[in-house]
Amino acid sequence: MAAAQDAHHASQATQTFDPPPAVAAAAHVPSFEAYQRLHRRSLDDPEGFWREVSDQFVWFKPWTTLQEWNPPFAKWFVDGETNISVNCLDRHVEAGRGDRVAYYWEGEPGDTRTITYADLLADVQQFANALKAQGLRAGDRVVLYMPMVPELPAAMLACARLGVVHSVVFGGFSSDAIRDRVNDAGARLIVTADGGWRRGRVIPLKANVDGALANGACPSVERVIVLRRCGNPIDWDAARDVWWDDAVAGQPANCPPAHLPAEHPLYILYTSGTTGKPKGVVHATAGYMVYTAYTSKLIFDLRGDDVYWCTADIGWVTGHSYIVYGILANGVTGVMYEGAPNHPAEDRFWAIVEKYKVTVFYTAPTAIRTFVRWGDHHPQGRDLSSLRLLGTVGEPINPDAWLWYHRVIGQGRCPIVDTWWQTETGGILITPLPGATTLKPGSATLPFPGVEPQVVGEDGQPMPDGQRGLLVIERPWPSTLRGIYTEGWGQPGHPGEFGDRERFVETYWEKFPGRYLTGDGAVRDADGYFWVIGRVDDTLSVAGHRIGTAEVESALVSHPAVAESAVVGAPDPIAGESIAAFVTLRGGIEGTDELQAELTQHVGQTLGRFARPKLLRFTDALPKTRSGKIMRRLLRDVAAGREVAGDTTTLEDLSVLAALRGDEE
Ligand code: WTA
Repeated sequence: MAAAQDAHHASQATQTFDPPPAVAAAAHVPSFEAYQRLHRRSLDDPEGFWREVSDQFVWFKPWTTLQEWNPPFAKWFVDGETNISVNCLDRHVEAGRGDRVAYYWEGEPGDTRTITYADLLADVQQFANALKAQGLRAGDRVVLYMPMVPELPAAMLACARLGVVHSVVFGGFSSDAIRDRVNDAGARLIVTADGGWRRGRVIPLKANVDGALANGACPSVERVIVLRRCGNPIDWDAARDVWWDDAVAGQPANCPPAHLPAEHPLYILYTSGTTGKPKGVVHATAGYMVYTAYTSKLIFDLRGDDVYWCTADIGWVTGHSYIVYGILANGVTGVMYEGAPNHPAEDRFWAIVEKYKVTVFYTAPTAIRTFVRWGDHHPQGRDLSSLRLLGTVGEPINPDAWLWYHRVIGQGRCPIVDTWWQTETGGILITPLPGATTLKPGSATLPFPGVEPQVVGEDGQPMPDGQRGLLVIERPWPSTLRGIYTEGWGQPGHPGEFGDRERFVETYWEKFPGRYLTGDGAVRDADGYFWVIGRVDDTLSVAGHRIGTAEVESALVSHPAVAESAVVGAPDPIAGESIAAFVTLRGGIEGTDELQAELTQHVGQTLGRFARPKLLRFTDALPKTRSGKIMRRLLRDVAAGREVAGDTTTLEDLSVLAALRGDEE
């Protein structure tokens, strides 16, 4: 694993970057000592600490109990009542900041919109009324399958205003993937668009939804609301489909917010795990609200005049927490861009930074490596002097990419916050603070206040500094995932509370009771800095997209020609990891080039284009241990082109090798 070697290598590197004095002087946390005090207090006096932080928010009923922790089941701000849409919108408008821009939005073709906080509040209330008119009530589920347009955050906040639980499905997912998610969530309604722009082409979102719902495959869905975005031709089911404009027409721009219990589920977001079935991670209202807002403020060091741009898609957790909720809660201006970084040209991102005078820029290492390849002349041809802070997320950043980002994009002036977190954690857990933390390229550095990470061995004992182990989190934090969705969630006292308890416990808590298992490997160095190496389970990070190997495997075996498959990650210079699939075919079927292309295509159709294997090889048999376990480590070696057993291995040798290695895996 290239990333692992990089991180390990870098953990011995000596080049460090102190916070620039001017940055520190103006920062919310202005020194390392201030950070240490804050962190210490957050662990020693959580009640007092979170009282101060949470007092900044509007509560319909203030909380008196901070936490109920019956491991592994956590509740936060337990008896409080609030509404996240009020804290993201009404609060700012009522304080006289309604004219402030909430989003500068830029469509891929170059169309633009500027939406103020007052505009967004009106849109949200109107759409909330439209949802109400469709009969939706608190606790109902709505799936949002949309392009990156302002109506997406508006729809999310409209759901939140009513206590309706949204589940955003990334626009890159296929009909099959939509169907699975809609059915798991039992969604009553889907919001989509005719299409969305990507690299000059229309992604047929409405057609994908039609495909998911075909032949009555999603019996819970009563209605599909369709936003007109691209004007592409679509099929129409008059009994089911309604245009967004018609749904909101005549709806008042005033909708009182539901007073929701702190633990009311805010959303479900499906993420890949170690089995083929994606997990519906559930986040609860108040803890998520407080934690995403507070992390946004300190990590991106936000203040009123910032123009903040996170390039993620809202279909992933980064967009939920750090394009929508955490950012709007701070009342700053965000940038939203619909399309691809190389459309119409490879300097599109830098053109956007220049145009909107972006001050804080947050992206993924895979994007940075792509920019390196495209060449320095693109950023150098644009005025990037507005930038003051850079961030990365999604995978380990190799020090070379870090140094390029610092030098070419940040012009040596901007600290980089390398933020480690997960869909399950809701918000950033390990990160530098720009005015406080000395940076080491490739390290996510130190825990955020309230967070206590640890690197442990298989026996649960802390690993000595400098040695690899498993990253665990010692205590819950406000935006800990509450569970994995099952029917009945959100109805207090219902056995569905906390969802699929068995899977939740087994996935995150069983190995080390009372500690959250992240699934990542990490090293802590002698300064206490964390170097996250990557997943130790069977999930891959491909161009920043989290994909389960089991999901790709089940997509492959759903093809009639496939008998068995094994999917592993291979190092990739741009995407970090790429997908390598080893496939055995059913008797009598020949592994032709055509079939190879067809299977790749089939995975694209079943899961989404982003999940297609880059390498697909046919083999007579998969290498297995005597107990029948596929020897993934061996396959990873082969996929990486590494020498196996002293010789460059061909796949044909695998069964021999497997026999040689015995039960080693
Ligand atoms: C990886 C994305 C190293 C990690 C927010 C984690 C990282 C998985 C970093 C979660 C980082 C995320 N350094 N690795 N700064 N950030 N990861 O759920 O393996 O899509 O477990 O959430 O991404 O991916 P997810």
